[in-house]
Amino acid sequence: MLAPCLREKSRAAYLTVFMKWTTEETLRAKGQFWTPAWLARTMAAWVLSERPPVLFDPAAGPGTFFAAARSLGFQGSFAGFELDGAVLARASESGLGPGELQRITIGDFLGSPLRPTYPAIISNPPYIRHHRLDERRKRLLQARAAQWLGFNLDGRVGLHVYFLLKCLQSLSPAGRLAILLPADVCEGVSSARLWRRLSGRFRCDAVITFSEEAAPFPGLDTNALVFLLSNRPPHPRIPWLRVLRPEADAISSALADPRAGAAGGLAVQACERELEELVSTGLSRPARAHNARGVPLSAFAKVVRGIATGANEFFFLTSSQIRQHGLEKRFFRRAIGRTRDCPAAVLRARDLAALESAGRPTWLLSLDGAPERLLPAALRAYLIKAEQAGLAARPLIATRRPWYRMEQRAAPALLFAYLGRRDCRFVLNEAGVVPLTGFLCVYPRDQDPQHVRRLWRALNHPATLANLLYVGKSYGGGAIKAEPRQLDALELPAQVIKECGLARPPFLAEPTPGTGTSLHPASPRGPLPGAKSASLGIGPDGCLCRGDLPRTRPPPA
Ligand SMILES: C[S@@+](CC[C@H](N)C(=O)[O-])C[C@H]1O[C@@H](n2cnc3c(N)ncnc32)[C@H](O)[C@@H]1O
Repeated sequence: MLAPCLREKSRAAYLTVFMKWTTEETLRAKGQFWTPAWLARTMAAWVLSERPPVLFDPAAGPGTFFAAARSLGFQGSFAGFELDGAVLARASESGLGPGELQRITIGDFLGSPLRPTYPAIISNPPYIRHHRLDERRKRLLQARAAQWLGFNLDGRVGLHVYFLLKCLQSLSPAGRLAILLPADVCEGVSSARLWRRLSGRFRCDAVITFSEEAAPFPGLDTNALVFLLSNRPPHPRIPWLRVLRPEADAISSALADPRAGAAGGLAVQACERELEELVSTGLSRPARAHNARGVPLSAFAKVVRGIATGANEFFFLTSSQIRQHGLEKRFFRRAIGRTRDCPAAVLRARDLAALESAGRPTWLLSLDGAPERLLPAALRAYLIKAEQAGLAARPLIATRRPWYRMEQRAAPALLFAYLGRRDCRFVLNEAGVVPLTGFLCVYPRDQDPQHVRRLWRALNHPATLANLLYVGKSYGGGAIKAEPRQLDALELPAQVIKECGLARPPFLAEPTPGTGTSLHPASPRGPLPGAKSASLGIGPDGCLCRGDLPRTRPPPA
């Protein structure tokens, strides 16, 4: 009796997860996530503080911001856009009457003419990532943005960035804009350039970031933040807030006096930051401690992404599937697929055995370019079945010759969990597996086992892991994603290098005695791998320094 009951239970659990996923996917495609009431009030209070006659929302949804404005006693009118009429119709649930929504156009804000301008704009634009955008529309938006900014944005920016630009263009002189955006707007390839340009034309009145406990969209993989901007001359110092508890009044008091620091009590931390520091660090990130600087990982190791199979269900198998298809193990390599399969800091052979017993795949079909006719009959039959199912025509697989040839990687000594919330992100690969794309491969330049262990310790040091924030992209729930070239730039703080007994990378010169200036690579091999400047080296204080920067040691108190 127990088994069917359990089956029924797991079916129900599966359906719940599936429903949540499909609902989220539909909402994601349309960019429909509503601002929580406490944050809508905070944003509206700031935008309305100069008593504008009209409040404009370019993506009104069910009128979240309009309802917040009314709750604050706003008597003026509303204007805006909403693509989805059915969603706007839900505004009545918040007590907004049809007369109040007369000037809300059902249509595309980005396709509308630029005029008129507004004194108060408030927005939580649709977060639609670039791969969901139609190519023609994307090209048009890119061209318009380039014309206004004077340079090309990275082609991977999402729709929300174009909303930000158009909102700014739609601001009247001295007008205010409060906009809720995901952190990718300040952590992407063209972000620093974009914010340098915007903050040169507009005033950045404040940046509001949120801790996990106060996340505007709990449970979603988005690290959202609020930008308060106005069409006034720029200011070199910017209030930067970290909200720890979702309390609208505390945020408003911290905004009123950010220098008071603790104005928001326990709910908000506030400080003022130099515009240039903020833009170059990334507006979503806290200021960097001086002793956080160090040597980039690229000086110690080479980073490469894990193997992309193109079809894990075909190439990545369990022992019992291998038996079932009559295949031979000599064509397989031991591999690890999911970060969840590797929860500890060390991956050992016995962990693979445990995964195997739990029915998880650990064997990667790793064929070279050998012609099909030379392969055993059972393997040929397995490949033919896959070809008949259309596998060979899948995008990544179709680029390979022959299609079943697998990417090759030596087993890396260290694995890096690509995206995650775990404390320990670097795994010592004692099992000698190759990883799939859930991981990055980290190949230490010095293969000596003792050095590898020291490097592993240094990389998992909290002070090094804290630096991931400055190279990766942040997502919801504290998750950070780092691509290989971003991980190259991860700095191992000088103190950590010392504490873990890591040897100085061989191609860096000894410090020049008595100078606080930068050092140059000793060998003629050129710049430090991953370094942006050719004159990158370790200063006498053990910190990383560059020819174009004076030094990284903290100034005397
Ligand atoms: C993230 S929701 C925010 C809604 C509401 N302002 C809030 O904060 O709760 C974005 C809204 O934009 C709408 N939308 C998507 N693309 C749009 C476009 N091109 N023009 C106007 N509205 C759009 C979606 O239907 C969705 O209702």
